[in-house]
Amino acid sequence: MKALILDAQNQTANLCDIPQPTANDNEILVRVQAISLNPIDPLYVSHPLASSGRTIGSDFSGTIVSLGSFVPPGNNLKTGDRVAGFLQGACSVNERPGAFAEFLSVPWDLVWKVPDGVTTEEAAGVSLVALTAAQGIWYRLGLNAPFAYDKETVLEENPGWESSRIVRSNDPDVLNFFIYGASTSVALYAAQMVRLSAQASGKKIRLFGAASKARWELLKAEPYGYEHLVDYRDADWLEQVRELAGGKGMDYAYDCISEGDSVERVSATLGPNGKSAIVRSRAGGAWKADNLPVEPIYGAVWEGLGEEIQYQGFTVKKSVAAREFAVAFYKWLGEAAGNGLTPNPIRLMPRGLEKVVEDGFKLLGPGKMEDRGLGRTEEWMKPVSAEKLVYII
Ligand SMILES: NC(=O)c1ccc[n+]([C@@H]2O[C@H](COP(=O)([O-])OP(=O)(O)OC[C@H]3O[C@@H](n4cnc5c(N)ncnc54)[C@H](OP(=O)(O)O)[C@@H]3O)[C@@H](O)[C@H]2O)c1
Repeated sequence: MKALILDAQNQTANLCDIPQPTANDNEILVRVQAISLNPIDPLYVSHPLASSGRTIGSDFSGTIVSLGSFVPPGNNLKTGDRVAGFLQGACSVNERPGAFAEFLSVPWDLVWKVPDGVTTEEAAGVSLVALTAAQGIWYRLGLNAPFAYDKETVLEENPGWESSRIVRSNDPDVLNFFIYGASTSVALYAAQMVRLSAQASGKKIRLFGAASKARWELLKAEPYGYEHLVDYRDADWLEQVRELAGGKGMDYAYDCISEGDSVERVSATLGPNGKSAIVRSRAGGAWKADNLPVEPIYGAVWEGLGEEIQYQGFTVKKSVAAREFAVAFYKWLGEAAGNGLTPNPIRLMPRGLEKVVEDGFKLLGPGKMEDRGLGRTEEWMKPVSAEKLVYII
């Protein structure tokens, strides 16, 4: 089969012929039909952690070709079903599978069944960013999720989270939630999840966001429903947020950029007992901040895959709780997509795997958001804003 394979020495990936995988006992074999790109995919091709020969890429959707012998009957999966999920690609030091290939194998419970009404191309853009947002909003910040999962194991594994959750039980009826980078793919899900939590808890949550003005109309409309937006390019956006909130600080903040001074400024929006989550680690060096009022909660989406991962100079421990949460989330997504979450808008990119590095990776850049410079004029090479880049395989 064809697959995009890391060439670490030359910091690129090449289309190669490799043997087709087979499904282990608890896995399914998937014929990949669409993939979407995440910033993490080009980041670890330009700055390789892995050695040459690894299949790169995370997000996929496709159809089931075969099921391993331990895949439980009655799990509602069968040959020919459309499913979507994500793998780790070449984003770790230790050997992990990747998705940018014609076939892949994946644990049967870490995919979600794509419901009617969601296209295979849309589905390719969901799994990694939606789980990232679900971990941020529900698993880490502890807002009410619209599905059940084992919260005791979460707190056993993360005892530091407990005190802030107790404070949360005294929350007032109106909460303020600020999302920085509101037009990122992660944030498009985060906003929807905050609103689902508000419905589940019966509390009003006022959504504040920072995004470019060009995206405000989209973000104020359904299904996102921001009450107040500021433009992150305005030097005084932090003061604007404070003013719009009438002097009351944020109860929660989610920094979907976590670069430069964003973590410091997003933390400064918080009121007393406010709590925040971020998408990039201190250890990775994308942001710096001293004397934060409260240390923001970071986690890598890879935790959901339930395996130990060596990553960015530290080890992401194997987490039973994070895997169980991912399984519960994907089960709900497969049942509820359509009335639960709206898939992100997609940009269908021309051609397939052979153009991912040349076009898609150019658009996402080699690392930071501020490094996304282009100099290309084709229609499909305009800057990425509130959308996923999708290739048909
Ligand atoms: N921790 C994890 O496991 C995890 C998982 C997934 C993603 N991430 C990280 O999360 C971040 C977002 O990922 P994504 O896929 O959602 O990104 P994305 O969709 O590619 O982000 C594009 C958006 O970023 C916005 N943006 C660019 N610079 C900004 C700035 N300085 N301030 C505010 N907004 C800015 C742009 O907004 P406008 O168009 O409005 O200008 C654009 O809409 C990335 O850094 C990614 O690596 C982390």
